[in-house]
Amino acid sequence: MRLGIFTDVHADYEALVRVLRALEALAADSLVCLGDLVVHGQRPNEVVDLVRSLAIPTVGGNHDHGAVYYGSDPRLVFFNPKSELHTALTQPRLSDANRTYLAQLPERFHPVPDVCCVHACYRDRYGLLYSDTILAQLHADAPVPVTLSGHTHRTRIHVRQEDGSLVDIDPWESGAERVTYELDWERERYILNCGNTSQLLYDRLPAVCGLLDTKARTITWQRVYE
Ligand SMILES: [Fe+2]
Repeated sequence: MRLGIFTDVHADYEALVRVLRALEALAADSLVCLGDLVVHGQRPNEVVDLVRSLAIPTVGGNHDHGAVYYGSDPRLVFFNPKSELHTALTQPRLSDANRTYLAQLPERFHPVPDVCCVHACYRDRYGLLYSDTILAQLHADAPVPVTLSGHTHRTRIHVRQEDGSLVDIDPWESGAERVTYELDWERERYILNCGNTSQLLYDRLPAVCGLLDTKARTITWQRVYE
């Protein structure tokens, strides 16, 4: 399987179309989305309509959950005031069909037996992977060798090596716009964080898509421009 990966679209329809074209060019034969379809951008319904029409398996992100339950779930977490404002603005604009769709998105699913998709981590939709302690917990929680995640908007390969040591790889450090890594998931475990699709956020990082080749056991990350 050549599994195409994207995440954190945040209602940026134009960026989503570019990323889907890039995944087609990479010859992905199936797709997954790692959540946060909505909030921040201006075209939430068009993004959800497109993902629904293509029947792309998608996990529910914190912003998807927030857009459905804003005002009714006191457990919602917002990392900053703008995030809450944009959630409040998104909620009434969602069509009934899209609100229903977002409400039923799963917290995890397995596209193939060795791979699991989550938004942030296995314990909640909000987890930020900022320390070895949290990463070690996530590796311990993972029921499979390869976890696909998003949420942080930072593309990373988090490796737990055979001896238990943790290695974090920033694929963009080399300056390349497309990088491929071999995965040895008989001996190591991986958290593969895709990064983001949206171009509308504070950090303005280039859009990223991924291709997990489950036969060759490689992950390719590619930056996507205009
Ligand atoms: Fe998120």
